[in-house]
Amino acid sequence: MSASSERPIVFVTRKLPASIETEVVAHYDARLNRTDDALAPEQLTAALRQADIIFCTVTDNIRVEQLGGSGIRTKLIANFGVGVNHIDLDAAKRAGITVTNTPDVLTEDTADLAIGLMLMIMRRMGEGERHVRTGAWSGWRPTHMVGRSPRGKTLGVIGYGRIGRAVARHAAAAFGMHVLWYAPRDPRIEDAASAGPTNAQRATSLDELLQRADVVSLHCPSTADTKHLINADRLRMMKDSAYLINTARGDIVDEWALSSALREQVIAGAGLDVYEFEPSVVADLKEMENVVLLPHLGSATMETRTAMGERALKNIAAFVAGDVPPDVVVRP
Ligand code: DGY
Repeated sequence: MSASSERPIVFVTRKLPASIETEVVAHYDARLNRTDDALAPEQLTAALRQADIIFCTVTDNIRVEQLGGSGIRTKLIANFGVGVNHIDLDAAKRAGITVTNTPDVLTEDTADLAIGLMLMIMRRMGEGERHVRTGAWSGWRPTHMVGRSPRGKTLGVIGYGRIGRAVARHAAAAFGMHVLWYAPRDPRIEDAASAGPTNAQRATSLDELLQRADVVSLHCPSTADTKHLINADRLRMMKDSAYLINTARGDIVDEWALSSALREQVIAGAGLDVYEFEPSVVADLKEMENVVLLPHLGSATMETRTAMGERALKNIAAFVAGDVPPDVVVRP
């Protein structure tokens, strides 16, 4: 940041937990989003021209169209969230902008939600809840809404970073699940393997994992390489009794292919927290009973959202002080 005595302008793109907004207002020249509407591309361009720091999140699609032009004032994009696929990192770097994120603090809550989705779909909880609410329930009977138990089944974890390993640990500890993981691109993977459950086994290939797993849970980042990693062919490799869980990013799954696979019972079910065309959801999915649909709630606890805000504030404070922020994703 410049040595100017004026407070840096921090543009906050969405409403944040009150304690975090209070901190932003106390320390910076804050521009808050009172309506909490998602910003249009031209509003993001304007923000990059007027603010020193953009405090943004997953709903802000910051692309080369916003970053490539002249007159950009922003020097730091502090993302509230760990995933940064909504930001063109190369274009940010070229524009002289540092990008930070908020890793670690949302690991456990996101892992919990993946486990929750697994239980919801295997035990038919979403379907059961709709059944009660619509008044269709006629009473207990031995063969009514019988689901599947996760106990002793094989969990296939794709992407074995912090969240994938946490899901693996919880599934092994709570349900005695056998864990098979696959994450060829994670450079930290050899160090990381020890942090998973002791029964975890590395799959020799993605195909092997898909063929052996009873539940497949996605935890890899969204990149050009992982777009539609789960497509029609790969869905057909899964057991017809298997379930797919996605708490990572929507575009890792070809959502049209998934909806066909669920309709044709190529797989038994899916639990989704993220969508390819978020916040739109392929209409077919909303009609089906063998899928649980949540609105991107992975990190949505007051504790974690506050911790994410605090982590972003630490990145901003370090940057303003002229230090390297703790959670740098890219820097020029
Ligand atoms: C994350 O942190 O990446 C969550 O999905 C919200 O962006």
